[in-house]
Amino acid sequence: MKKNICLSLLLSLLVFFPVGAQDNKIVINADQELSTISRHIYGHFAEHLGEGIYGGVWVGEDSDIPNRNGYRTDVLEALEHLEVPNIRWPGGCYADEYNWRDGIGPMDDRPNTINTHWGMVIEDNSFGTHEFLNFTEMLGAEPVVAMNVGSGTPREMQNWIEYMNYGGDSDLANLRRENGREEPWGVKYVGIGNESWGCGGNMDPEYYSDLYKRFATYVRDYSGTDVTRVASGFSNEQYDWTDKVMEEASHMMDAISLHYYTIAGESWGHKGTSVDFGEELYFDGLRKALRLDEFIEGHTNRMDKYDPEKRVALFVDEWGIWTDPLPGSTPGFLQQQNSLRDALIAAISLDIMNKHSDRVKMANIAQMVNVLQAVILTDGDQMVKTPTYHVFDLYRVHFDTKLLQTNSNISSYGYNGEEIPSISLTASKNDDGLINLTITNLDPNNSQEVELDFRGIDELGSVSSGKILTADEVSSINTYEDPENVVLQDFSDHELNGNKLSITLPSKSVVMLTMD
Ligand code: AHR
Repeated sequence: MKKNICLSLLLSLLVFFPVGAQDNKIVINADQELSTISRHIYGHFAEHLGEGIYGGVWVGEDSDIPNRNGYRTDVLEALEHLEVPNIRWPGGCYADEYNWRDGIGPMDDRPNTINTHWGMVIEDNSFGTHEFLNFTEMLGAEPVVAMNVGSGTPREMQNWIEYMNYGGDSDLANLRRENGREEPWGVKYVGIGNESWGCGGNMDPEYYSDLYKRFATYVRDYSGTDVTRVASGFSNEQYDWTDKVMEEASHMMDAISLHYYTIAGESWGHKGTSVDFGEELYFDGLRKALRLDEFIEGHTNRMDKYDPEKRVALFVDEWGIWTDPLPGSTPGFLQQQNSLRDALIAAISLDIMNKHSDRVKMANIAQMVNVLQAVILTDGDQMVKTPTYHVFDLYRVHFDTKLLQTNSNISSYGYNGEEIPSISLTASKNDDGLINLTITNLDPNNSQEVELDFRGIDELGSVSSGKILTADEVSSINTYEDPENVVLQDFSDHELNGNKLSITLPSKSVVMLTMD
């Protein structure tokens, strides 16, 4: 008899939880609104590197590739859809060797220079200040301009800012007018050096702090533009840099940066392939991407020491997965494919930054087109949106919303003796009171049964929209021949019962739901 009861209990459990499914309970406190998730967390980074700009964004007016004033039409349209909030430019390492005067004036008069950081290729400077700022303007994105501290001078930097931002009658503002732009652009975000501990000048934190203060002094708020001054921070767990630079110079900065690249392979020398990988590179990619949480906490703790009021923001202005380059690609061009794994890495990274949105006010995926974890790939006149693009599309619902407090009791996904959480999520509330949920199942082998309990609100009305991103394999990609292999689909595998929402999340998937 006892045996029969056990058997029927087991059978009924199997009906509710299909074989392999895991059980997860999440409480969302809809009345506990935490920080605002700035739309600027969903920013991009476009460097003069490989085909990140040339070929990827800029083809010139005379190109056979359809373009609007020299910018690829297909790329513009794809970026318009994402409502790109900001773009960081011209580097990266390139920023600390860039001379802005090379990139203004008639194209034919612009010099050929050498991009010594990225492949020693000739840079014809046809994409310069006007081309970048007009591009951001067309997209309605804020420009984030990284200044040359490594090989430049404070005067050069100050002149560039005056050229871009001054509305009065100075020679530099008039030069801008001669070059075709009457009104100043009002650039609000200025980076003072990039990786100044490495490619940006190999400085130590004491030296950089002094230099930062010297340069920051000459970042003027021309014509009423209130400039956000961003100091060069460190990467990963190098907290001492943050500590010293905050101690010495935080009174003169509005933000400090953090760079974190996910390396799925064993080391920088063996970063792992971006195509045709198995579960090991999948698991290690996710496991390492999750470390962003620890690094943001570590840097934030050091910042808290000198800035407990959180006046200074943390800008994660380079992040993403960095793999070995594609076989046969040009050395120094950092070309890699982009798979469902990378889309999941984007989802969990964005969740982490949303969670820390009290301090993280801007982030920039590295990079926007054709370089590293690109949202768009191009080849000649062909263009494809990567799986990561679709995560950025899904997550737009969180722009400028309130992060909601959540408590989770979730299962783990294990591989090779190590474990990571199988679920990652962000819940937010927008100005209209709609609750948006993005939720990722990291487990590539099991679906997840998730029960969400919404507290602190009257009964949930309905789930008004549901989308999912998934694919057959964690290494599934979009190609020019098959651009729709990994795309958003409608999702309705959920059930609302009062304030409880049950979802069956397929393995390796990102789901977005909107509730009213
Ligand atoms: O994104 C590629 C490079 O990575 C950037 O130029 C540099 O800042 C970082 O090391």
